[in-house]
Amino acid sequence: MQHHIPVLLNECLEYLVTNESGIYFDGTIGFGGHTSEILKKLNSDSKVVATDKDINAFNYCKELFKNDDRVKLFNTGFTDINTVSKIESIKLYDGIFADLGVSSFQLDDAASGFTYRADTKLDLRMDKTKGVPAYEIINKYEEKELADIFYKYGEEKKSRLISKKIVEERKLKKITGTIEFRKIIESVVPERFAKKTLSRIFQALRIYVNNELNELKIFLEKSVPLLKQGGRIVILTYHSLEDRIVKDHFNFENLDCICPREIPICVCGKERRLKILTKKPLIPSEDELRINPRSRSAKLRAAVRL
Ligand SMILES: C[S@@+](CC[C@H](N)C(=O)[O-])C[C@H]1O[C@@H](n2cnc3c(N)ncnc32)[C@H](O)[C@@H]1O
Repeated sequence: MQHHIPVLLNECLEYLVTNESGIYFDGTIGFGGHTSEILKKLNSDSKVVATDKDINAFNYCKELFKNDDRVKLFNTGFTDINTVSKIESIKLYDGIFADLGVSSFQLDDAASGFTYRADTKLDLRMDKTKGVPAYEIINKYEEKELADIFYKYGEEKKSRLISKKIVEERKLKKITGTIEFRKIIESVVPERFAKKTLSRIFQALRIYVNNELNELKIFLEKSVPLLKQGGRIVILTYHSLEDRIVKDHFNFENLDCICPREIPICVCGKERRLKILTKKPLIPSEDELRINPRSRSAKLRAAVRL
């Protein structure tokens, strides 16, 4: 069984891999789809350092790459890039990669708690040992705070109606299960919109619970100084807010001055560290969408260290 089909695979490889004996970082190894192909392009002097927060993904890759000592795996978040690089005595990388969001395995596996199709605890944490599960938020946050999460991260138009209903229901009984939660949402949206609404609400909670947007910003800030001159950074996103963060960060790193216009000479000392390689983000082709519909919201942005 294939746990996950790697998205925009050829495009990722083309932008990322420039040195066959290089050192690479895959922040979201998942089920090793991208890394397996990256390794095929590399020789025996190369190295891939990889992280994943999810214990299932980590264990799967431990087994998958057990005979390849070029691969160094860590069951942690990609914001720990400095720590794991230090452990591996790596100062600079030829390429840094992240493929955000969740894998198909996580989405389909009932025990992972990411799906509203199976009855499980409404958890939604990638690392179940850290942070607060989604059901705590659903039961404790103010009505307005819940509505804001659904609107901001899920762009859900019925966010207020849904949060009002949640607050009514939780007064009667603590909400903990995915199906219980699903029924509450289904009771306030017309049946034909239910699937899309559920996806948006689950996505919003997942992004919030895992602090995904802040972690992405931290990761980008830490990654650029860890690139060699000519090294590449390649990021795949699946949400407009994530893509905006990558775009803004690359644009900022592409500037050599951030002084206000009225100042005649530059005093900011800003260094231009990146050149953007993808003026517009790359998206999956019709063929890829046909084979892998889950790739539909993917956007790839790449840049090179100056
Ligand atoms: C889309 S999947 C990656 C799939 C992988 N590229 C492949 O082809 O098999 C995203 C993975 O990133 C992990 N993840 C998400 N955010 C993370 C973070 N901040 N740090 C580490 N791993 C993260 C998830 O647990 C998931 O396994």
